[in-house]
Amino acid sequence: MHPRPLGSTSLAVTPLGIGTSPLAGMPGTYGYSTGEEAAVATVEAVLASPVNLLDTSNGYGEDGAGEKRVGAAVRRAGGLPEGFVLATKVDPDPRTGDFSGARVRESLRESLERLGVERVPLLHLHDPERIPFAEATAPDGPVAALVELREQGTVDFIGVAGGELDEMWRYLDTGAFDVVLNHNRFTLLDRSAQPFYAAARERGLGVLNAAPYGGGMLARGPQAHATYAYREDAGMAARAAAMQAACERHGVPLAAAALQFSLRSELVASTVVGVSSPERVAETLALASNEVPDELWAELDTL
Ligand SMILES: NC(=O)c1ccc[n+]([C@@H]2O[C@H](COP(=O)([O-])OP(=O)(O)OC[C@H]3O[C@@H](n4cnc5c(N)ncnc54)[C@H](OP(=O)(O)O)[C@@H]3O)[C@@H](O)[C@H]2O)c1
Repeated sequence: MHPRPLGSTSLAVTPLGIGTSPLAGMPGTYGYSTGEEAAVATVEAVLASPVNLLDTSNGYGEDGAGEKRVGAAVRRAGGLPEGFVLATKVDPDPRTGDFSGARVRESLRESLERLGVERVPLLHLHDPERIPFAEATAPDGPVAALVELREQGTVDFIGVAGGELDEMWRYLDTGAFDVVLNHNRFTLLDRSAQPFYAAARERGLGVLNAAPYGGGMLARGPQAHATYAYREDAGMAARAAAMQAACERHGVPLAAAALQFSLRSELVASTVVGVSSPERVAETLALASNEVPDELWAELDTL
């Protein structure tokens, strides 16, 4: 868990980062809702662990519940550990859908208040596929506002965090961003983000790979968790079942192979895993060091 450079930024991140969307109480996405005390205790466990990256967002949970829970844990811990990278994201106004430059500044203001910190080192544009690219890149749009926040020194670095790869390429090509975060597309089951990550790395950006379990299927197994990337997907479930059987033959938990698929890639600076209980933090660190034999990697590749 030695921190390593996040692209050309001056930030150093541990290979494992923790994501907070399952902590925000989002039953529509995960099929369960995490209570406030469990969520706060989970973030406290992260702050006490070797992990130095926590990923959250203005839009996680009702009325900023995700960030408020992170903020409560930061307060209980007496502040963030030295060198800790607390990253958040700007989101549209949940009432009006406004995602203008003015909304970006307001989103950051809300986030800092909820998190109880004076600044964040990394601020992402969250799921920009929600608005047309032309609107996002207009002079009074969210991309220009983020660039200005960086120029003013209000935040150190800016990222773009989203799903659809065609859109992510367009944002990468703006040259405006320091970091990219993509999700569910660089996993044992879906490797479509590989060329995008390679291009981002080549251009000096830091790459954060989120959701290495596809939102849970590759952690719990497809029988227990039938959705991939938050949607029912029978084809993915069938391939995950075959991968789970291969892992069992080698005595390796499916979750260990899924996590290490991302951890072992030299394209990825940090792999962001979502958890919702304090025990999961130690469990995830153990999965990261579980031995995976070369023959299993070869078998998983063919599947
Ligand atoms: N657009 C974006 O910016 C974007 C999109 C997606 C994700 N992200 C970030 O990336 C993070 C990770 O994505 P994700 O949480 O959706 O997906 P994920 O990391 O692929 O999977 C999380 C799910 O796996 C379960 N899990 C984790 N470790 C486990 C273990 N050892 N055993 C059994 N189950 C385990 C969690 O369950 P428990 O809750 O029971 O621990 C949770 O339901 C998010 O939290 C978020 O911070 C960002």
